[in-house]
Amino acid sequence: MNNNPIGVFDSGLGGLTVVKEMMRQFPCEDIVYYGDTARLPYGTKSKESIIRFSRENAGVLVRQRVKIIVVACNSSSSYALPALKKHLKIPVVGVIEPGAKKAAALTRNKRVGVIATSATIGSRAYVKAIHKYAASVRVWGQACPLFVPLVEEGWTDTPVTLAVARTYLAPLKKAGIDTLILGCTHYPLLKETIQQVMGKGVVLIDSAREVAGEVQRILEGRRWLRTRWGRGESPRRRGRPASRIGRHQFMISDRPQAFEKIAREFLGRDIRVRVVKPGSHST
Ligand code: DGL
Repeated sequence: MNNNPIGVFDSGLGGLTVVKEMMRQFPCEDIVYYGDTARLPYGTKSKESIIRFSRENAGVLVRQRVKIIVVACNSSSSYALPALKKHLKIPVVGVIEPGAKKAAALTRNKRVGVIATSATIGSRAYVKAIHKYAASVRVWGQACPLFVPLVEEGWTDTPVTLAVARTYLAPLKKAGIDTLILGCTHYPLLKETIQQVMGKGVVLIDSAREVAGEVQRILEGRRWLRTRWGRGESPRRRGRPASRIGRHQFMISDRPQAFEKIAREFLGRDIRVRVVKPGSHST
């Protein structure tokens, strides 16, 4: 299994925040990414639809023979994790638990904020996960539905984005939270704006980093983590670097104009994106 790729899916491009972190932490690993751009956003959809879409996305990745699936989408992680775990034979990692655990450990005044899509906030998944680690922590949830289209449009640093952030974050500032979970794949791309509004005293938890840590723990536990060349891939062949560099594949369910441009800018490298329809591959 250790030569198989890591699979990641999201409703769009926001899951690239998780991919970027994993590229940094696991340079030898192959990664397959699937963004369901045709059906984005998930954050405004029903639980039933989110579960169905998530199972279909997982099916696309399973066909790529992935060894683990990272559900980079918070809305999917909130609703579809039990169904995916039940139907898949490989490990499945969501983004809620690692971020919640970190927030519970970091808060000093026991006041934590969560910003996410309406679906994630409505599921109360973060509240339940935080209380599993620290029952006395008070949690304020705030849905920020306009953040996703702003990011998808590449408007990460505009006066409009700042004004929207000020409006959404005002109740959390008033609540005096000291820790804020960025509970949506897209929000790390707005980190600077969010930090500017919340002030330096508030710690922002970016699930991407926490999730990569969880993936490492699972793969190491199974001895599936790839840290060097595999069999039949001798580094001694001419022109090969001493340590292996992972291959990265990007698939989406529809081709929005901005996807490749934003993805390239965000990952800082040239990437090719293939369109794959999710329909018939449900797990
Ligand atoms: N990926 C989604 C999430 O993290 C955000 C975008 C959407 O609403 O689909 O919740």
